[in-house]
Amino acid sequence: MMLFEPISLNGKLTLKNRIVMPPAVTRLATTDGHTTPELIDRYMMYAHGGASLILMEAVSVKRGTAGQLLRLNEDQFIPEFKELADRVHAETDAKIAPQILHFMKIARSGYRQKVEDLTLEEIKDQPAQWAEAAYRAREAGLDAVELHFAHAYTIASFLSRYNKRKDEYGGAKLENRMRLMSEIIVAVRKAVGDDFCLGCRINGDEFTLGGNTLLHSTQIAVQCAKLGLDYISVTAGGKFEDAVLTEGEVLDPYTGYSGNRSMPPVWMPEKVNIYLAAGIKKALRDAGYTIPVIGAGRMPTPDVAEGVLQSGDVDIIGLCRPLLCDPYWPKKYQEGRGKDVLKCTYCNSCREMEGGFVTVECIQWKKKGVPQP
Ligand SMILES: Cc1cc2nc3c(=O)[nH]c(=O)nc-3n(C[C@H](O)[C@H](O)[C@H](O)COP(=O)(O)O)c2cc1C
Repeated sequence: MMLFEPISLNGKLTLKNRIVMPPAVTRLATTDGHTTPELIDRYMMYAHGGASLILMEAVSVKRGTAGQLLRLNEDQFIPEFKELADRVHAETDAKIAPQILHFMKIARSGYRQKVEDLTLEEIKDQPAQWAEAAYRAREAGLDAVELHFAHAYTIASFLSRYNKRKDEYGGAKLENRMRLMSEIIVAVRKAVGDDFCLGCRINGDEFTLGGNTLLHSTQIAVQCAKLGLDYISVTAGGKFEDAVLTEGEVLDPYTGYSGNRSMPPVWMPEKVNIYLAAGIKKALRDAGYTIPVIGAGRMPTPDVAEGVLQSGDVDIIGLCRPLLCDPYWPKKYQEGRGKDVLKCTYCNSCREMEGGFVTVECIQWKKKGVPQP
């Protein structure tokens, strides 16, 4: 099966198979951004479960605090990431990498900072923040870094057609909306060196009226490849623009239709977003770039994932909720023990836990217990 064949990320990192765990916030970090034994245990389960690359939940690059998100914005966090990387490498042949992100302010009062509110000084400070965090990841012994350019966060908001800035960082021209992203890639690459694996996650489509579509994401992907990124991971949606407001709560970008496209529920078809990753892969190949493309979203079984790989639509499969449900999914299927896999029902209870700031786990664990190897 192609699913269990190795693949190289642009000659910089070899993965033992085509199954990666895409980032998933666990709500297991402390409120001041530190890891906990429970968080380390969770990632060790993924590593032992057989996925080739574990992408860690979004980690803040932002100066200052970031609530319950992990942080790489200060040197004090390096030893915690190093402890995890060392354990993964000592006990398994999996690779582990953080997804790093910057986000804008949001408050219960309903206030939400937008790209138009940022001063030029704040924009110019961004590349250094990303570069410093990525450098710390390398120092910690992590295998790669993924730049989070998707969903509702700062860089996706710059890339979006909703970016109405009047200066060279926004407006109708995609070239301007890509400027900050490009400056970040250049700065991060300089910080981590040419030999280090650096990828990004982008939206294939924002799924909001007036937002970016494949027309824009294909150009964004080509720009990322041109600037030397080693893989592109494709996701979708997750926007504030169509989010549903609950009185007294902070606006949650995964509550509207675009949010559903990001984590497709059971009522959406299987592999619903793969055509986006396929479109991006085609655009990259047409432009002469061979870097691998990761696609994710509602691929419950090895048959579905294998079909996607065989069709050539993507190079690597991202399996988030299936692995969240049973971290040993790859190992069990590879060993012919598919009947032992605890199967994700795509009920999105995990997503609600994440949105409610409570520990993220599969709701089935309560009745059926935590899956064992
Ligand atoms: C609880 C939860 C947390 C998530 N956190 C992140 C995140 O931090 N960064 C990100 O890019 N995607 C995040 N995602 C999206 C997943 O990486 C993935 O793209 C999505 O769940 C679709 O894949 P799946 O159908 O295999 O679950 C999260 C998803 C879930 C369910």
